[in-house]
Amino acid sequence: MEPVNRHLIERIDAYIEALFTPTDPALSQNLADAEAAGLPPINVSPNQGRLLYLLAKIVGAKRVLEIGTLGGYSTTWIARALPADGLLVTLELEPRHAEVARRSLERAALAPAIDIRVGPAAESLRDLIRSTTAPFDLIFLDANKSGYVEYLELALELSRPGTLILADNVIRHGLVLDPSPADVNDAGAKAYNEVIAHHPRLESLILPIVRARVDGLSISLVR
Ligand code: SAH
Ligand code: DHB
Ligand code: MG
Repeated sequence: MEPVNRHLIERIDAYIEALFTPTDPALSQNLADAEAAGLPPINVSPNQGRLLYLLAKIVGAKRVLEIGTLGGYSTTWIARALPADGLLVTLELEPRHAEVARRSLERAALAPAIDIRVGPAAESLRDLIRSTTAPFDLIFLDANKSGYVEYLELALELSRPGTLILADNVIRHGLVLDPSPADVNDAGAKAYNEVIAHHPRLESLILPIVRARVDGLSISLVR
């Protein structure tokens, strides 16, 4: 993207953020905890958190599944959209990330139950499928992009018609435009986009998202 346009689009994002996403103690504390613990700053942006929150409210979500917890920033946004008797299950590979998230989420004293499960997401998803829990209302994919296609197939087994499946980072700064991306995460995001575009059980679209660089969030509705 041309520098001047990039500058403009970042100013537009900041403008939207100033209007709709005021600074909030629990969210600021969450990011401070993550930074102090040395976690990478790859959480969703504030405007994207707000979008996740609104989408959860729009579908009246009570049960949400998140794949990729990091320090629990997106978890905090989503949890605030759920009723007090809601449930948010969030999957994280790294015990250290899960521990930082656990502390921050406890401190934020969120109303719905939050269940952090540590381990490779594909295994945790298979455990959830085996335990025949009720379907989720919203599923947010945000772990390794190389696993997105597999996570989608498993997520569909935890869905019902009307479940919303969202995935972060599906544009990868435009690297998905490459006919065959070298990086496994870029290739994984590109493969995911092609699967959701043609999947018989999904109706989908990708929204470009402004962050430090341009990225995207996919929205898929289960038929
Ligand atoms: N949703 C978070 C950001 C998640 S970053 C937010 O917006 O605040 C991606 C996370 O996925 C990292 O914490 C990483 O450790 C985790 N991850 C990577 N591979 C994974 C896997 N195979 N299973 C589960 N989590 C994984
Ligand atoms: C990056 C950003 C993300 O939102 C994510 O989930 C993983 C990686 C990144 O900018 O590298
Ligand atoms: Mg992400």
